[in-house]
Amino acid sequence: MKTDFLILGSTGMLGSALMTGLKANGYSVQGAARSDADICIDVTDDEQLRKALATVNPATIINTVAIVDLAYCESNPGHSYECNARVSRKLAEYATSSKTKYIYISTDHYFTGDGAAKHDEHAALNLCNEYAATKFIGEQFALQNKNALVLRTNIVGFRAEKKANTFVEWVISALKNQEAITLYENFYTSSIDVYNFTEILLDLLNKNATGVFNVASSEVTNKEFFIKALAEKLDLSTDRAKCGPMPKEANGVIRNESLGLDVSKAEKLLGYKLPDLKKVLETLCKHYQNNGVAI
Ligand SMILES: NC(=O)c1ccc[n+]([C@@H]2O[C@H](COP(=O)([O-])OP(=O)(O)OC[C@H]3O[C@@H](n4cnc5c(N)ncnc54)[C@H](OP(=O)(O)O)[C@@H]3O)[C@@H](O)[C@H]2O)c1
Repeated sequence: MKTDFLILGSTGMLGSALMTGLKANGYSVQGAARSDADICIDVTDDEQLRKALATVNPATIINTVAIVDLAYCESNPGHSYECNARVSRKLAEYATSSKTKYIYISTDHYFTGDGAAKHDEHAALNLCNEYAATKFIGEQFALQNKNALVLRTNIVGFRAEKKANTFVEWVISALKNQEAITLYENFYTSSIDVYNFTEILLDLLNKNATGVFNVASSEVTNKEFFIKALAEKLDLSTDRAKCGPMPKEANGVIRNESLGLDVSKAEKLLGYKLPDLKKVLETLCKHYQNNGVAI
């Protein structure tokens, strides 16, 4: 019997939201990660991955696994390629031979030099570091399967397993502790919360979407604006925070900073507007307050 979904990276920020959201929608779901998951495997081990796919027999695979630490990727290009790219080739091959739907979660870490511009799915990419390069190769491998869906995004949320704070968890903690953090004024994203992202992914799946789609907020903001808006909603002070530029290079890694995504392709297919900043913040705060997320 088929399982509706196999989530690879089920304990991560996005993976854990997908597990909860898909189960709430009535689907059968199995999750995989190296620890604390339904199936504990290292997806870069071909034999472990093959056995997991055979056992779960999924109708849809969502691959959220990635090494997202830019400095680690830069110092470990081989491991970064294995995890962010090669696994995607194995999954695309499996999807083709078994007629399984394959969804690869990609990134927005592709653009530089144009501030708050919105980049559509055809915009020229700046593959300035190993993370960006290996994620793009992961996309290309996924697209070897003609029915695959590649979702470019910038996600925010909370992590079920507290191995490391997410961006939003770090911000809330720093503001609560009155730390003197820098709010980047030249770093632009169209961040979407993982909860709205899950619903949009399901809608795209129901529309039989294939190829590359941007799934993000319909609004691009810099980090200064995003953090101040989040602080206001949570009634936290930003008095100790200062504004400044994000350095182009940190820990030996060149970083992109103009990450805004144009979501009109997804909006056209879905027939509705993707969430603006207000809706993203409302959803984040609802999850923060209702679930008593510990920081
Ligand atoms: N976070 C962001 O700001 C952001 C922005 C844009 C795009 N994205 C993309 O969104 C996706 C999800 O990101 P996220 O922030 O949710 O990631 P995350 O929180 O770091 O979660 C990664 C998940 O993958 C698992 N994993 C890592 N290596 C593994 C391996 N070798 N074998 C099996 N499982 C492994 C981790 O669990 P274990 O460590 O226990 O194995 C965890 O469950 C990624 O593809 C990322 O590129 C993220």
